[in-house]
Amino acid sequence: MAKPMVIAIDGPAGAGKSTVTRLLARRLNILYLDTGAMYRAATVGILDSGIDRDDPIEVARYVSARHIDFDEHGAVMIDKVVLPKERIRSPAITSEIWRVANNARCRDHLVHLQKALVAGRDVVVEGRDATTVICPDAQLKIFLDASAEERARRRLGEWPAAEPKPTLDEAVRTIRERDGMDMKREVGPLTISDDAVYLLTDGLHLSEVVARITAYAVQRQPFLLEKVVANQLLVGRSRQPGYVQVATGTDGAWQLGLTNPDPERMPGTTTSITRNHGGRQAGTLVQGAAILCLGGVAEHPHHIVALPMLPQTWYVIEPGAWHAVIQVQGTICAWAESSGIREERADLTPEQIAELNAYLDVYLPK
Ligand code: C5P
Repeated sequence: MAKPMVIAIDGPAGAGKSTVTRLLARRLNILYLDTGAMYRAATVGILDSGIDRDDPIEVARYVSARHIDFDEHGAVMIDKVVLPKERIRSPAITSEIWRVANNARCRDHLVHLQKALVAGRDVVVEGRDATTVICPDAQLKIFLDASAEERARRRLGEWPAAEPKPTLDEAVRTIRERDGMDMKREVGPLTISDDAVYLLTDGLHLSEVVARITAYAVQRQPFLLEKVVANQLLVGRSRQPGYVQVATGTDGAWQLGLTNPDPERMPGTTTSITRNHGGRQAGTLVQGAAILCLGGVAEHPHHIVALPMLPQTWYVIEPGAWHAVIQVQGTICAWAESSGIREERADLTPEQIAELNAYLDVYLPK
């Protein structure tokens, strides 16, 4: 059994952690833990309970007796009562969270619950102390950042219609105040750990950020590929290296097509992907760089997944022909051939090219 894959992501308010983390978890098909939601839920609890919120001892006693977790749809619950997203994310709650976040006993209790939720699981955990306190042994640590201006703009873009909207200057000031509180508090402060990858997201498209983190994750744990590609290409387990069971889709058999008819094709020049009719996916082999790129699911190619073909773990047989066998460590195999595949080529959108380059930047740093 491979060790569980733990990805911990920290960063300041508004850096895009929640959105990135949710997409990443879906892409990798692993659990997602939003620890901020638990601080928010605890804050709703202290405000609704009528306890003296100015008394840290009473706040700690109240929060420590609460069970906070998530329902099957990912909504946060306090003592099994689901809290709506609009409620926990309202500015009125955000401005009161410090009462819980700065309280050492509250933090101890929440960290204890968080550790129990992630124990033994493949998971991506997001917060302020995910890399330092909750998952100090995570295989991949990311510090996701963006300038205060960029973060304020993003926050204003998602401001609830019912609430008076601050100006950009006010939003920047509020963001800086929250940064100060998150970084300066004595317990569980937001810090960049030495072993974290620092990712500044200003100017990056969401899919590029997800692509980079996916690439780092796959670099650290190749077995993740099985999850990444599960709905992208034919994947099976085989005791005989080089051979896999061919999966059958609901619309008949589906197969992966690898396209590299042009031996001159090199990284940076790939501008199209191939879609298989009746199939679920398509691929482009970027020659000379040992990167396999897959784009799309079903009839709608959207995101790209690029996979590193490390010499010691990946083999591509007959890369110039319409036939390839890819194998990772003898256990994860993909089998592809051109027989019966009708193809159609589509130009990559600028976002897809950017996404592809995000993978190449990680796998093939210049
Ligand atoms: O991530 P989100 O904005 O939902 O977090 C809300 C607040 O909860 C943060 O500003 C921070 O003060 C607190 N928090 C924390 N530790 C975490 C997650 C959130 O102190 N792991």
